[in-house]
Amino acid sequence: MGERILVVLLLVLNYLLVAEGEQADGDLTSLLSLMDTLKNTPPNWVGSDPCDSWDGINCKNSRVTSITLSSTGLVGQLSGDLGSLSELETLDLSYNKDLTGPLPQSIGDLKKLTTLILVGCSFKGPIPDSIGNLQELLFLSLNSNSFSGPIPHSIGNLSKLYWLDLADNQLQGNIPVSSGDISGSGLDKLHHAKHFHLGKNSLSGSIPPQLFSSEMALIHVLLESNQLTGNIPTTLGLVQSLEVVRLDSNSLSGTVPQNINNLTNIQDLFLSNNKLSGSLPNLTGMNALCNLDMSNNSFKPLDFPGWFSTLKSLTTFFSFHGRKMENTQLQGQVPTSLFRIINLQTVVLKDNKINGTLDIGSSYSNHLRLVDLETNSIDSFQQNDVPNVKIILKDNPLCQENGGVESYCSSYQPTVSYSTPLNHCQPATCSSERISSPNCICAYPYTGTLAFRSPSFSDLDNKTYYSMLEEGLMQSFKSHFLPVDSVSLSQPIQDSTKYLKMNLQVFPSGQDHFNRTGTLSIGFLLSNQTFKPPKGFGPFYFLADKYEYFGSSGLTESSKSSNIGIIIGAAVGGLVLLLLLLLSGLYAFRQKKRAEKAIDQSNPFRRWDTVESKSETPQLKEARMFSFEELKRYTKNFSQDNDIGSGGFGKVYKGTLPNGKLIAIKRAQKESMQGKIEFKAEIELLSRVHHKNLVSLLGFCFARGEQMLVYEYVQNGSLKDALLGKSGIELDWIRRLKIALGTARGLAYLHELVNPPIIHRDIKSNNILLDDRLNAKVADFGLSKSMVDSEKDHVTTQVKGTMGYLDPEYYMSQQLTEKSDVYSFGVLMLELISAKRPLARGKYIVKEVRNALDKTKELYGLHEFVDPAIGLTSTLIGFDKFVDMSMKCVEDSGSDRPKMSIVVTEIENILKSGGTNPIDESPSISSGFEEVSRGSSSHPYNSNDTFDLSAGLPYPKVDPM
Ligand SMILES: *[C@@H]1O[C@H](CO)[C@@H](O)[C@H](O)[C@H]1NC(C)=O
Ligand SMILES: *[C@@H]1O[C@H](CO)[C@@H](O)[C@H](O)[C@H]1NC(C)=O
Ligand SMILES: *[C@@H]1O[C@H](CO)[C@@H](O)[C@H](O)[C@H]1NC(C)=O
Repeated sequence: MGERILVVLLLVLNYLLVAEGEQADGDLTSLLSLMDTLKNTPPNWVGSDPCDSWDGINCKNSRVTSITLSSTGLVGQLSGDLGSLSELETLDLSYNKDLTGPLPQSIGDLKKLTTLILVGCSFKGPIPDSIGNLQELLFLSLNSNSFSGPIPHSIGNLSKLYWLDLADNQLQGNIPVSSGDISGSGLDKLHHAKHFHLGKNSLSGSIPPQLFSSEMALIHVLLESNQLTGNIPTTLGLVQSLEVVRLDSNSLSGTVPQNINNLTNIQDLFLSNNKLSGSLPNLTGMNALCNLDMSNNSFKPLDFPGWFSTLKSLTTFFSFHGRKMENTQLQGQVPTSLFRIINLQTVVLKDNKINGTLDIGSSYSNHLRLVDLETNSIDSFQQNDVPNVKIILKDNPLCQENGGVESYCSSYQPTVSYSTPLNHCQPATCSSERISSPNCICAYPYTGTLAFRSPSFSDLDNKTYYSMLEEGLMQSFKSHFLPVDSVSLSQPIQDSTKYLKMNLQVFPSGQDHFNRTGTLSIGFLLSNQTFKPPKGFGPFYFLADKYEYFGSSGLTESSKSSNIGIIIGAAVGGLVLLLLLLLSGLYAFRQKKRAEKAIDQSNPFRRWDTVESKSETPQLKEARMFSFEELKRYTKNFSQDNDIGSGGFGKVYKGTLPNGKLIAIKRAQKESMQGKIEFKAEIELLSRVHHKNLVSLLGFCFARGEQMLVYEYVQNGSLKDALLGKSGIELDWIRRLKIALGTARGLAYLHELVNPPIIHRDIKSNNILLDDRLNAKVADFGLSKSMVDSEKDHVTTQVKGTMGYLDPEYYMSQQLTEKSDVYSFGVLMLELISAKRPLARGKYIVKEVRNALDKTKELYGLHEFVDPAIGLTSTLIGFDKFVDMSMKCVEDSGSDRPKMSIVVTEIENILKSGGTNPIDESPSISSGFEEVSRGSSSHPYNSNDTFDLSAGLPYPKVDPM
């Protein structure tokens, strides 16, 4: 062996190691420099490899790609060395109140940054111009700091930006638009932005007309509480996508442009506390408007406009009051029709010249809670008392005349109180700073303030809103596998700027405190808006408190020596062969990493976890992405043993998560793969639904050209197998009723509670799975359709479904409605009775039952249809009602079929009449079925017998019509 070979080898080796190593070392240097200027970085930031599970650090290919350190109590300033983390994509340092100083210029060097979140810290000084260099940036939240100076024009260069939140700082100067800039950049260039949250600053000048155009995709424009002057530009009316506009508490003047009523998607419009004049615009046509506040302006005196009452469909809150001491008020009598607006909750019309009689009428909105007409000229009141509604007529002639003894003559201090109720338990007495959770367990919660910037409702006493919020939070935490036991909300208040704020406590599960990764994940989920509040809550932000109850974990010192030294030492020792091996190994490794990286980058879902750049709702809040390697591990390399079924789409594998939870993985084979877009759509759809009677999607994998969906594992197979006696499960009548009930509840949820509603399109016994307690779970949403266009009550689509269950009306009209699922469910009910395939040997179950039905006879004369396995020895409670209901479900015309919630109630009543509590879905398990093994060919996740009817397959002639 010549020495030259050795030298060459060493050089090559050096290249290979150093090229990767040098930059990774750079990351370490930056982080060490951060640790120099910041106190309270995580205690496990020790050793020389940040990628070795340092808390809050994520890496790809040994490079730091994400730093998330929310509410860790960081103290100090950011070091300029941050800029050398050249692979960094996500930086979240939110909720560190003692993190101060300027944001360094070098932030602009983080060329790969997609997400920059610094909410609720104490950053000072100007936002650096260099921020405009972050070409990949999608999400920028700098709200609730002390930034000052102007908004840099360069932000307009962030062409991919979708979220811009600079609210609650001390920013000054004009709103930057491209015409006022040498380089021609400004916020008007942010054509992908959906959110401009710039409220609570000191911005001045007029709102530039150029800011708005039909090219903008904005949904939230929040400019409230600034010092803006001039007119509201008419261009605002061009941004059709707008849902929330807050221009209140500025010094805007002039008239409100009439074309504002083009904005038919607006839910919240706040123009209060300005100097607007002229006549009120005619808002007819703003049919989504929920919340209107025009108070404290200088509008012309105005007779009560008739169009107020035409804002019918969705108006929930209505407020208009004049400016005291100025002759600029509403006059005349309040039309009674106003109170009939169906969702109306609050009417505040203080300080006007409303006169005559107040007549709420008898058919006022069910939701009406407050009518405040303080300081007007009303001299009589028709009703005297209106149940559930607080009426205030203080400082009206009526109250002055009768001495003001009536309850409506006193003034009113609204008080809201809410706190999450206990979950049927006695509060625990807790030591030290621990707090009893809603489940009555002592723990150290993660806490903070949730603030909603423009809720569309005003009845803050309605507990439904809070419980929706609690449920939404829990779902979001659970779907990200965060160790959360429960959440508690308390002390809601509406502050003077109309923000709805409340305290949030998040309780840990399993132990009495969170570990660091727990709080970092929760913080990130809230700071990057992965959590989407329920409809009506509008834009929100969260400010967490510092969390300091970590246990003793995470303090272990790790000392690692560099392997590089050892390798080089060996090489110099002359072990050329070893070197050669190493070299080829390293080369292969590098190539593999490159390949992985390339795959990773071509993956359209790569950024789902943080921001969805295309549309408002980051759709992935309920499902997570698994890597191919993870699923390979969980299924023991997709082993034969774990193959639990196959069908047209591919195979189903059983897998085990590291926490022992069983999962079912549906792995598409090449031919049946959907396009990326469809696959994404399906996951988005599935990730929105969570109900105990629906099989939940836990995640998906889209890597290495594979498409896999990961579901919870449902133990007892399909209802079809159970009915056919294949799985050894005994289904007595009560059990069948419960299965029908569970399925109906799942469907009612999809149709009536999910927004937009989802139509399953393939309800059949094969797609109803039974869990370990034989509760029904609806599976296989492969054909499901979301009713995105809520204007219509149907979607026109290619006919798909399964023969025998398919709704004939849908087949003929191609118009899909919820009622098509109701039809299939009716067929399923008949199947539950008979255990017969709905369509077999030319016989169609619906027709057969219709023909045989004789209501004068016992069991409606259907003896021969009833499955003998049902146990005919005992009476079949509510059999007649069950058959009646199934017949209603299979009515020819969808409009004659009941809604699923009606079906639910009916089956519940049947169960109740039989003395069974329909709430209890988990009675004792019937004997012996657990040991039964099932053949692999008929696993429930299959959907082999789903036909695509778009090819024009005729509907079976058996249909009775
Ligand atoms: C308001 O606009 C609607 C529709 O454009 C129109 O029908 C109505 O007469 C207008 N009302 C007033 C008071 O101008
Ligand atoms: C109420 O005020 C309007 C306008 O000022 C006036 O025309 C009307 O006569 C008043 N109605 C009553 C009952 O005082
Ligand atoms: C509370 O709010 C929910 C959701 O908007 C609504 O359905 C319900 O009727 C309200 N309850 C009352 C008592 O107004």
